[in-house]
Amino acid sequence: MDAISVIRTKRDRGELSDEQIDWVVDAYTRGEVADEQMSALAMAILLNGMNRREIARWTAAMIASGERMDFSSLSRPTADKHSTGGVGDKITLPLAPLVAACGAAVPQLSGRGLGHTGGTLDKLESIPGWRALLTNEEMLSVLDGVGAVICAAGDGLAPADKKLYALRDVTGTVEAIPLIASSIMSKKIAEGTGSLVLDVKVGSGAFMKTIEDARELASTMVGLGTDHGVRTVALLTDMSTPLGLTAGNALEVRESLEVLAGGGPADVVELTLALAREMLDAAGLKDADPAKALADGSAMDVWRRMIAAQGGDPDAPLPTSREQHVVPAPASGVLTRLDAYDVGVAAWRLGAGRARKEDPVQAAAGVELHAKPGDTVTAGQPLLTLHTDTPERFAYALQALDGAYDVAAPGTEFTPSPVVLE
Ligand code: URA
Repeated sequence: MDAISVIRTKRDRGELSDEQIDWVVDAYTRGEVADEQMSALAMAILLNGMNRREIARWTAAMIASGERMDFSSLSRPTADKHSTGGVGDKITLPLAPLVAACGAAVPQLSGRGLGHTGGTLDKLESIPGWRALLTNEEMLSVLDGVGAVICAAGDGLAPADKKLYALRDVTGTVEAIPLIASSIMSKKIAEGTGSLVLDVKVGSGAFMKTIEDARELASTMVGLGTDHGVRTVALLTDMSTPLGLTAGNALEVRESLEVLAGGGPADVVELTLALAREMLDAAGLKDADPAKALADGSAMDVWRRMIAAQGGDPDAPLPTSREQHVVPAPASGVLTRLDAYDVGVAAWRLGAGRARKEDPVQAAAGVELHAKPGDTVTAGQPLLTLHTDTPERFAYALQALDGAYDVAAPGTEFTPSPVVLE
């Protein structure tokens, strides 16, 4: 077998055989297939697609590239959630302790932000002392003792995906449904969760810009999970505007704490509860009441124990930015659009995100929203507050926000998109 014949097959719109897929994924993980060869193959897959058999085999080969975790010693059913990524998507933070408070074990292996989308680990690292890197034994012990753990995936889990994802990120080959589906599902299946709820984002701030593409991604991932014995369901949710009122690391932790304290923005609460219900259903805990666990403080209690178990101080003040810049509403009327992608790029440029994997992030940087689509605004009132420790970034962030919002005449009828689309 050789890489060039595999690349040619896909370049010429052929179907890759099981043997070709097993060989190329394994040889790439071992370093026998070069980055430039794999990037040519990834581009051929992006352009010419893969059928369900090819995607299933590719996923299985990525799982086989590393270890599989085993949660069978736990007394509770396991339930995990994965979001395909968005702007202001802090849902994992309140959701994991909430679902644990309702009786499930939540092994939440999470990632870092790259580009305009935020990462759960970057957000949690704004809590003084909190550690993302746990050994498998530590992860299992937090999961067993607290009921929820949010940590980085170990190096041994789907190493083929780690290598391939980094390569796709720098070769314009992220947005391929077969590659996204196999990347996400290989990690989730190798992680060993019994059930999985997928939050597939649709809109300007998401990888999937149209509902048709999101549906295809969702059904591909549900099929992969189901075939591997993981009870998998998917929600398609809106990512045309940021979730909640914040995009940025510490800013989003603060907002998540409001949700855990029984308050917080309506869209964040709605999506947290919708995903919690699906996770509890999939885990066989149909009688649990997540709204009650938010209201009575039991979810907050799990949060505090979960943060402390990973070295964090749940009572420590969160970092605040050294400099702020207010963007005023340009006119009086109804805010009809506040673009998720543009806000995400602004937060990234303020220092909340990174351009390269190894870059540091600023804990306090980001964008605070003072209005959401559908709200009435008055000319000159604060629409956004930009936060950073490095004020020379303001001009570059403001460029990203040029054309990011529309205000229609006062009294214009406008119905914002629902949070859960399907
Ligand atoms: N998240 C992943 O883990 N992989 C992808 O390919 C896209 C989003």
